[in-house]
Amino acid sequence: MNAVARPHRARLVEALGLGPVWVRKSARIVPRGPVDAPGADPAGERRSVIAALDWEPLQRMVSTCVACDLATSRTQAVFGSGPTHPAWLVIGEAPGADEDERGEPFVGTAGRLLDAMLASLGLSRERDVFVTNVVKCRPPGDREAAAHEIACCRPYLDRQIALLAPRVVLTMGPVASAALLGADAATAERVREHSISVDGRLIPVAVTHHPAHLMRSGDEKAQAWADLCFARSLYERAIAAAPD
Ligand code: URA
Repeated sequence: MNAVARPHRARLVEALGLGPVWVRKSARIVPRGPVDAPGADPAGERRSVIAALDWEPLQRMVSTCVACDLATSRTQAVFGSGPTHPAWLVIGEAPGADEDERGEPFVGTAGRLLDAMLASLGLSRERDVFVTNVVKCRPPGDREAAAHEIACCRPYLDRQIALLAPRVVLTMGPVASAALLGADAATAERVREHSISVDGRLIPVAVTHHPAHLMRSGDEKAQAWADLCFARSLYERAIAAAPD
């Protein structure tokens, strides 16, 4: 790392509560002029700090995050819950009131439907499925998460996926699907099978409806069931290709 970038990175790491950062005496150069010199990339620096975190520092950083305004209205950040080596990863949009209060994802009525959907595949959240959201803090009034809030949280989700290394990912609802896969994944004409590349490994991704949407509009339940069966087929294919 060059001498200008290093102090910025050190300050960032310390501000995130991850320091101290030890710097060799010969490299202790105090830059003159603005902290973010031309060419500096604070968002990129933050991303690379997060991309190097282990599970517990990552949890700590999410719980103390102030990267966007949701920090001012949340009760607590909702990191996610489930086994740390799960077969499945389910990704929703953002915590609601119940989740904000309890600090766990999908614990309200939508969560009960999610549990039933997973049980229909023989899956349990305790044993098989890690559940999280693209945005870790509740948007006020349960409004849709804004693009900049999703962008602030994205490095957390990416690091969670890399550390969890699930066999299959299921995104629930258009916000989660678009955030992970791009806008096309969330359209009515959606392609069924997607994948994401994590540390050089392709993880298959299936998309489905959000449970809260299914509670309002029963019409899509059959489609959701087909999506779940499709996700299970992706899981079985992944296991057959690499049993361990
Ligand atoms: N809806 C979501 O998308 N996530 C939750 O955790 C709860 C409701």
